[in-house]
Amino acid sequence: MGVVRQLRQISADDEGVDIAFRADVHAGLSQKQKAIPARWFYDATGSALFEDITALPEYYPTRSETDLLTRHAAEMAAAIGPGRAVVELGSGSSTKTPLLLDAIEPAAYVPVDISGDFLRGSADALAARFPGLPIYPVEADFTQRVALPREICPLPKLGFFPGSTIGNMVARTAIDLLRNWREALGDGALLLIGIDRVKDIGVLELAYDDPAGVTAAFNINLLERINRELGGDVPVENFAHRAVWDDVHARIEMHLVAACDLEFTIDGQRYHMAKDETIHSENSHKYGPRDASLLLRAGGWTPVATWDDADPAFALILAEATAFRSAP
Ligand code: AVJ
Repeated sequence: MGVVRQLRQISADDEGVDIAFRADVHAGLSQKQKAIPARWFYDATGSALFEDITALPEYYPTRSETDLLTRHAAEMAAAIGPGRAVVELGSGSSTKTPLLLDAIEPAAYVPVDISGDFLRGSADALAARFPGLPIYPVEADFTQRVALPREICPLPKLGFFPGSTIGNMVARTAIDLLRNWREALGDGALLLIGIDRVKDIGVLELAYDDPAGVTAAFNINLLERINRELGGDVPVENFAHRAVWDDVHARIEMHLVAACDLEFTIDGQRYHMAKDETIHSENSHKYGPRDASLLLRAGGWTPVATWDDADPAFALILAEATAFRSAP
């Protein structure tokens, strides 16, 4: 079977630049608190830097989640059953996916990722490892409506959303996304989602500000991408990486901090920043057990099983599409 075909659901301009990237950069830099959505980290360079992050000793989420998948794969498989089309949101390198696919006898695999070149490479690698499995890669922003390949229409679905990527979204956006995917995956669908737990602040902050500076490079790459793709002249060397815990929102915030008063131009549009002003580049929300359960139920998913005995803590939660019936 192998990779059947790659669907592209991204609008690019004449130079091949994602139209939404340009729009988000200008809209975000025009706000009082400058902010750029975290999905724009993931060009080819950024996706590769994120892979480096996952190998850092301080970045525990990947290790904790892989440990859960490894130790509990048989229980997960028993709860999920065979014959499902696995739709992975933000599949990236798909390194955790074989642990799941090995256990559950899937009928098809649909990786959805915003980084098209990266997606091609990982889909090819997976095809080599699972020769009988049809793979339908979709290059798309999974926070927007995604058209699924029609071949998987008749199959029951399993959404796979690992890595605590849901943590990038504020509550309202996270719930919109869960509700959209509840509709897209349909009645009878299951969702296996990775959600990072609230924990010791020191552990959290080190995970997002590693001494080797890989996370700093990942954050700074966003500015380099603006210069590369949008022809900006952002003085990258005058920005510093910052990662701090915000206890009100229960999240790590990443910022790009201006080290001095500075100016730059993107598409002829001039921007000024005062010393210590920041561009907010990422939120990474953390959830306690009840928070996670409430989030899923608000999004139309009913939790049916939780695996969360990793250290540092991390949760993999299996939920089923909530059936609509009257309730008090
Ligand atoms: C890929 C969104 C799960 O928030 O932990 C890692 C991205 N940012 N280090 C996360 C990230 C900085 C990561 N997610």
